[in-house]
Amino acid sequence: MKRFRIGIFASGAGSNALNIIRFFKDGNEVEVGFVLSNKTDAPVITKSENEGIKTLVLGNEEVANGLRLAEVCQKEGLDFIVLAGFLRKVPKELIDAYPDRIINIHPSLLPKFGGKGMYGKHVHQAVLAAGESESGITIHLVNEEFDKGKKLAQFKCPVQVSDTVETLEYKIRELELKHFPQTIKDYILKQND
Ligand code: GRF
Repeated sequence: MKRFRIGIFASGAGSNALNIIRFFKDGNEVEVGFVLSNKTDAPVITKSENEGIKTLVLGNEEVANGLRLAEVCQKEGLDFIVLAGFLRKVPKELIDAYPDRIINIHPSLLPKFGGKGMYGKHVHQAVLAAGESESGITIHLVNEEFDKGKKLAQFKCPVQVSDTVETLEYKIRELELKHFPQTIKDYILKQND
């Protein structure tokens, strides 16, 4: 029997969700209970089902209903929630139900290039436009303010003048795939020392 159960919320391609599913697949401490999306056609749904993971699609109105969302997660016996490209604001009631137990990843070195509207390519465009010499990822806890929760880890990569949105996005994706699952595991196992 695994010790901890996590739910993954995602809205998009699901490269992080798939990576997390595979990382925990054969371990004996953490299991993925389900993947939840607010988009019926999000590729993350098919990718998760192909890995034998239960999926759940809730419309944006349902996702905004924090009490219902908390009930769904608690019924699934989730201990933690991981946001992996989830583009909806997390309702207050869910945060209250899972205090310091919702983990998000953001593709910049917060507090820089965070907040409303800063997701995906928009982030990398802003980093390049600002002439930054480095970028990276931030893995943080979710609180009621967008991208403002306690930072768990940051990982950096250089930004070259020759970089484009695509080349920077690739470097960021590499960092995410390399570091997100281990950072999740370290945090979860530390909560119960
Ligand atoms: C990642 O860039 C992550 O940092 C952000 O959303 C993106 C998700 O990509 N939160 P994917 O759906 O996991 O491919």
